[in-house]
Amino acid sequence: MTAHPDSRPLSIRDLQAFKERGERFVMLTAYDHPTAQILDQAGVPVLLVGDSVGDNVLGHDSTVPVTMDEMVHHTRAVRRGTRRAVVVADLPFMSYQVSVEDGLRSAGRLVQEGGASAVKLEGGARVVDLVARLVAIGIPVMGHLGLTPQSLHQMGHRVQGRDQAEADGIVADAQALAAAGAFAIVLEAVPAPLARRVTEAVAVPTIGIGAGPDTDAQVMVIHDLLGISTGRRPRFAKAYADLRSTITDAVKSYQSEVASGDYPGPEHTYQ
Ligand code: KIV
Repeated sequence: MTAHPDSRPLSIRDLQAFKERGERFVMLTAYDHPTAQILDQAGVPVLLVGDSVGDNVLGHDSTVPVTMDEMVHHTRAVRRGTRRAVVVADLPFMSYQVSVEDGLRSAGRLVQEGGASAVKLEGGARVVDLVARLVAIGIPVMGHLGLTPQSLHQMGHRVQGRDQAEADGIVADAQALAAAGAFAIVLEAVPAPLARRVTEAVAVPTIGIGAGPDTDAQVMVIHDLLGISTGRRPRFAKAYADLRSTITDAVKSYQSEVASGDYPGPEHTYQ
């Protein structure tokens, strides 16, 4: 595959311009070098090294166990595969919740060691001091509201913002994040009318996952999109391919050709 025709590296200013022009865009998760290369060359403008690496790649059942060292490791691989897209890396659980200083150092590692262009963190009013400090030292921040998986033990997998008070809280949180300097806000598992309300209430792009069609952008976990994930797929995830079957078929063909002696053939053999 050749590089995207517009190979100029994108920045957070381009994402803001997408919103202003009413151009919907996508963000996809990437956790490794070849996936980052494929997505980047396909023209995906934002790659998220999500802490969902925990449940999609590392075999955990949530994002909670993911460490800073693991995030740096995966971010470096994605960075090396990316020429054009904005690379955003998640601050994992407990890397920013105890103090602003912790958050500054953790974000610094993702940018300096991992090569991320921006970081993402979960929460609203409780993280705005950190967001403002990060922006002040030149680290762009993406917010994340609604269902925030690092609070799984408190929230469960429940859709957020169904009642009026909770919905008003999410709108206020989004406004507080934008005022603190966040350049975009992920809205996860919230009713579509609430996502629309937030999108109209803030000037920065909203990126929905399980938030209906009226956000400025959509994000999906790449393993869900490609049909690699196991277990129950959330309602909002759509598989555009069935790579689990494709991989299984390829591996079975290899095994049976080795068993029958058809592989390796003369074309695969040094004479
Ligand atoms: O870690 C992740 O993949 C995310 C997306 C679901 C937005 O935070």
